[in-house]
Amino acid sequence: MPAIAIIGGQWGDEGKGKIVDLLAEKADIVARFSGGNNAGHTVINEFGEFKLHLIPSGIFHSHVDCLIGNGVVINPRVLIAEIETLQERGIDVNRLFISDRAHLVMPYHILLDALEEDARGKNSIGTTRLGIGPAYTDKVARLGIRFGDLLNKDLFHKRLGPILNHKNAIITRVFGASPLSFDEIYQEYCNYADRLLPFIRETSLMVNEALEKGDTVLLEGAQGTMLDIDFGTYPYVTSSSSTAGGACLGIGISPRRIDKIIGVYKAYTTRVGGGPMPTELKDATGVMLREMGKEYGTTTGRPRRCGWFDSVATRFSARLNGFTGIALTKFDILDTLPTLKICTGYELDGSVLDNPPPNFATLEKCRPIWEEVPGWQSSTNHIRSFDDLPGEARQYVKRIEELVGCPVDLISVGPDREESIVVRPIL
Ligand code: GDP
Ligand code: IMO
Ligand code: MG
Repeated sequence: MPAIAIIGGQWGDEGKGKIVDLLAEKADIVARFSGGNNAGHTVINEFGEFKLHLIPSGIFHSHVDCLIGNGVVINPRVLIAEIETLQERGIDVNRLFISDRAHLVMPYHILLDALEEDARGKNSIGTTRLGIGPAYTDKVARLGIRFGDLLNKDLFHKRLGPILNHKNAIITRVFGASPLSFDEIYQEYCNYADRLLPFIRETSLMVNEALEKGDTVLLEGAQGTMLDIDFGTYPYVTSSSSTAGGACLGIGISPRRIDKIIGVYKAYTTRVGGGPMPTELKDATGVMLREMGKEYGTTTGRPRRCGWFDSVATRFSARLNGFTGIALTKFDILDTLPTLKICTGYELDGSVLDNPPPNFATLEKCRPIWEEVPGWQSSTNHIRSFDDLPGEARQYVKRIEELVGCPVDLISVGPDREESIVVRPIL
């Protein structure tokens, strides 16, 4: 003990990578539990700036074991490239371990993601087109291939054959595209297996043994609660469980093991891809937030949609995850604004809603109820103590705590590891 989950509380890109890198200093294990290389976690520390897609953000601490859990879907080509980039930059990856139960992202997943998105036309989800949805679909359909399957090449050969026949039938007959070659995929993935073999472990056992002897484990979430397959703005969601519940399943520990659950919230809101976003600003303020916050996707480079802090969505995610504390990020981005707005409720057909409606079409009709608060109009980037923040900034934090119903443990005032204010120590 303890295990601490770090969960995105909005629509992803809240700054989870920064927070995990910061907290990992006092951890023994950092474990990724969901998503795939649709995630892009930025870490800036003494080694430079890194954009991690699969490797846990604890990798920069030489004492930390980094695990990619069974709940993650892995494109081995991307993982190998990420390992090599880190090695070239002098980062030791010998403490990286991959679950033998983690599913592989295969070339047909990537092709089908694009074909399905194109077929959706104007109703497209805006996926990352990296094959993540189709890989999770196959996991549930029992058509997946797991890392452990690669360890036995005969078994892999026998499994890939009928699966690829099935996929090629869909690719050619449903979408009219060209089939993929068995020999090419088989050979390519056998090469990946040889390269990644030393990293493959039963990671669930490793985490449970570590917790048993009192080690500290950080569970690194990907995406965000509003993108969760069950509780996000379905169908404009990702295909995995990005909530604290997903952490237990995606790494293989009991819910009883988790001591703290930290919700990472941006001090405003962003979303990339399609789907409802009640506080989105389609005006000059939205553009200003995007430019000041450098809000362009870490994985796809797409501009992020920007808006004010949504306390309906965040209250919902705090309850769903059972957040014990908040890490409030990108606080410094609001430094210059004379006034800020917070959405305190949704208005729908003359009624006030305190919770996001489950249906996306209804959510699209909701109009935010705004509360205007004064800005602090001074730089917070250099501040390291809550009491040193300007009064209006402290008020903004207090108001968020009140509306969300959860204390703020940490405030991030810049992208660097050091640019952080610890309000209540998490570890
Ligand atoms: P993640 O996917 O949740 O890890 O977040 P991303 O890395 O995709 O996006 C967060 C972006 O904000 C990255 O470019 C970070 O470097 C940056 N960032 C994180 N925290 C802060 C902060 O407090 N202030 C500023 N200015 N940038 C931050
Ligand atoms: P991190 O971990 C932001 C979004 C995509 C799209 C939807 C479905 O960096 O916060 P997918 O490719 O997953 O099927 O796309 O989910 N999405 C993310 N948005 N941050 C992420 O990850 C995301 N991962 C997926 O843009 O709207
Ligand atoms: Mg990201």
